[in-house]
Amino acid sequence: MVNLDKKTHVGVVGAGTMGSGIAHVAAAYGHAVSVFDTDAGARKRAGNVLEKVLDRLVSKGRIDAAAAGAIKERVVFVDKLDALAPCGLVIEAIIEDLAAKNDLFTKLESTVDEPSVLATNTSSLSIASIASACKHPERVLGIHFFNPAPLMPLVEIIPGIDTSEKISGSTRSLIDAWGKTTVVAKDTPGFIVNRVARPFYGESLRILEEGIADVVTIDWAMKQFGGFRMGPFELMDFIGNDVNYTVTESVFNSFFHDPRYKPSFTQKRLVEAGRLGRKTERGFYDYAAGTPAPKADEDEARGREIFMRVLVMLINEAADALFWQVATREDIDLAMTKGVNYPKGLLAWADEIGLDEVLRRMESLQHEYGEDRYRPSPLLRRLSGAGETFHT
Ligand SMILES: NC(=O)c1ccc[n+]([C@@H]2O[C@H](COP(=O)([O-])OP(=O)(O)OC[C@H]3O[C@@H](n4cnc5c(N)ncnc54)[C@H](O)[C@@H]3O)[C@@H](O)[C@H]2O)c1
Repeated sequence: MVNLDKKTHVGVVGAGTMGSGIAHVAAAYGHAVSVFDTDAGARKRAGNVLEKVLDRLVSKGRIDAAAAGAIKERVVFVDKLDALAPCGLVIEAIIEDLAAKNDLFTKLESTVDEPSVLATNTSSLSIASIASACKHPERVLGIHFFNPAPLMPLVEIIPGIDTSEKISGSTRSLIDAWGKTTVVAKDTPGFIVNRVARPFYGESLRILEEGIADVVTIDWAMKQFGGFRMGPFELMDFIGNDVNYTVTESVFNSFFHDPRYKPSFTQKRLVEAGRLGRKTERGFYDYAAGTPAPKADEDEARGREIFMRVLVMLINEAADALFWQVATREDIDLAMTKGVNYPKGLLAWADEIGLDEVLRRMESLQHEYGEDRYRPSPLLRRLSGAGETFHT
């Protein structure tokens, strides 16, 4: 019987960006947390980062010094995997490499007794392929946090093909108790967020490559008419073009080269040139001190067209995720508002605009380009034909 509660000892494997954030979240809820990393330097850095983050929270008045001290005390860094033996839940956050993860899960299975839950924070590998290293794949599932884990509210729960319902149910309840918003996603490429968000980048890159508008104008249009907090090019520079490009390429490959997810040469060239974004001071934009900010061409009619083209592609992707039962309509909308701060859920947005209008625009793009990339989702056609909406 799996019994996950505050008393559960939580193990984290990998003390990098995600592992240290996840350890923070678990300890803040009250768990004793043991973090294992093969690299002593990574363990030390993670300890320092945790200290710094907590000190900053105290100085901003977000938590008191006693609470920060208690969180620090609850997290221990260990140099042997065996130290995770008493854990009831282990979350793996090591490098994104299937062979490394399989090797780790085989070791974890013999280290951590049943019925402990073994979870992976993978972004792009299938849960089935990771769980295949275990004799008891029923206790393996995906718990996908977003970066930075302590700040981002969304967590995708991804049961694998063999995961027991009890394990996914009790894990979801625990992560809810941690104060996160959980959504359940099918074990499919990109889960919900990394799949549905692709057109935000991909269609904007197409618009750029066709010469319809420059980056600053497209960013302006998405913020001005869509209410997005950041434009797609600002966001790609923020995420890192290398990271963003890799996610797109991985989703494209995993979908057997569906043209809807085709990566862009423009972004590939930026990566090849080392123009990774903010972290290298140059990406789509130039961040070097003293560089004048470029000006958008604020033509309202064109701005609205750009925004609508990207939006209907996003809606179509959300509709298709629902069509293929990747998640419920509620979870798809929640994932995009909580995982990537979209101003509205995409299916609710479609209802507001009208499904006929979304379909008309998709058909017009498909007619104009003659590409499968623009095929409307069967669900969009079906609901529009029946005069229905997504949410009612
Ligand atoms: N960074 C993100 O934005 C993000 C978001 C969601 C999910 N993820 C996923 O989370 C996982 C970790 O990503 P990250 O960005 O934190 O990586 P990272 O490179 O910052 O950290 C990985 C850590 O794992 C350690 N490690 C490698 N192999 C190990 C092993 N066999 N045993 C123990 N420790 C080992 C490394 O020393 C390193 O400290 C990946 O699967 C990634 O896809 C990343």
